[in-house]
Amino acid sequence: MTGHPLTDDAIPHAPPLAGPATAPGPATDPVRSDWNPRGPQVRRNPVAAYDELRSRCPVARDASGAWTLFTHADVTAAALGHESFSNAVSRHLQVPNGLDGPTHTAFRALVERFFTPERMSALEPVVQRVATDLVGQLEVPGPIDAVAVGSRFAVRAQTAWLGWPAGLEEDLMQWMQDNHAATRSRDRSRTTEVAQRFDAIIRSLTDVRREAGDGAPDDVTTELMRAQVDGRELSDDEIVSILRNWTGGDLGSMALCTGVVLTYLADQPELQARLRSGVSDREFDAILDEILRIDDPFVANRRITTEPVTVGGRELAAGDRVLLNWTAANRDPRIFADPDAFDPVGNAPYNLVYGIGKHVCPGRPLATLELRVLTRAALAATAVIEPDPDRPRERELPPVGGFATAPLRLR
Ligand code: HEM
Repeated sequence: MTGHPLTDDAIPHAPPLAGPATAPGPATDPVRSDWNPRGPQVRRNPVAAYDELRSRCPVARDASGAWTLFTHADVTAAALGHESFSNAVSRHLQVPNGLDGPTHTAFRALVERFFTPERMSALEPVVQRVATDLVGQLEVPGPIDAVAVGSRFAVRAQTAWLGWPAGLEEDLMQWMQDNHAATRSRDRSRTTEVAQRFDAIIRSLTDVRREAGDGAPDDVTTELMRAQVDGRELSDDEIVSILRNWTGGDLGSMALCTGVVLTYLADQPELQARLRSGVSDREFDAILDEILRIDDPFVANRRITTEPVTVGGRELAAGDRVLLNWTAANRDPRIFADPDAFDPVGNAPYNLVYGIGKHVCPGRPLATLELRVLTRAALAATAVIEPDPDRPRERELPPVGGFATAPLRLR
């Protein structure tokens, strides 16, 4: 998700920065800009702006020279076209998302071991406890910000999963806030500082385990440190990169997903009632995926072309930066006749919320488990979740989607 020099370089699973992070090309060869990823139209209503771009200019270049693909067909083709569209977009080590070819395959196999159905079943009671405790602390009746609830839940659930001390909660909450502000500032020194702070947190946890040797806690972090790839142990940088990927960006994604899901349910009392009446986990998960398809807060990932390619009739040169806009692809009317129509079963095969191809999200089972357990806990603790008429919702701004604040009322 990188190539841009700011936060996404440092935090691999974080969103790519939209817009001209670097100066446009030389005056002799100016880039003809089709759109401004941070312009007023996008800031006003990002989802509507992407919808409009998809029909007006489906392969659009911004002033930095980066291309954005908006259609379902182009995004899918690029995500599956691993030979022409490389993931090596960053000068930083990004395991596994910045890797290509056999190296990616080897690390990917390692990562997938941590998200098997057996692992998720074993983790479920732990996540359930986290969700029940957190929801139990909310006042009913009372107001909430669904994004804030999602942030705290994400931090607690991820630390419980990784075996990190609960005492880190406030540090991580603060870090999420600072990371968000640094991304917005587009100030390289701030984003570097925030990224280094996160690395220091992770390294303190790996140091403790290394010093403890055989006495290290039996948890996911220790297991990762003892894992092997291609018959060798992982380097420190590789371990830190994987852990950074599992936490740095995902905490934010989980918070945004929670905001979108709870807001949608507040707006759709019938769907809420259906979920309250008791549906299977399978049906519940399909509903979550469909809500996120309609308003996908995980906007884009990056690629870099390895050779000249033609996409949607436009010529991309070798070495061009490309963004796959999942939010737009997930609302392409050529695939989803009415993008806002809710059809969890019919739309599931085309849903791109978790990507597609070799880099498809390996953390999907964990993300889905966490979202389902938290949503079920919120429904169980209330009679109704409803919009808050006194406090306006605020949309997040690019490069991420969803809501910055999602005020709701619990009854
Ligand atoms: C919260 C909701 C989440 C969403 C919407 C999401 C979405 C995605 C998407 C779209 C990709 C594809 C990236 C690409 O093609 O370049 C991806 C990759 C990835 N995700 Fe997630 N993700 C989520 C949560 C998680 C979680 C909880 C984890 C792990 C703890 C995780 C770990 C990863 C990793 C390691 C990759 C890179 C895989 C590779 O390059 O092979 N994600 N995610």
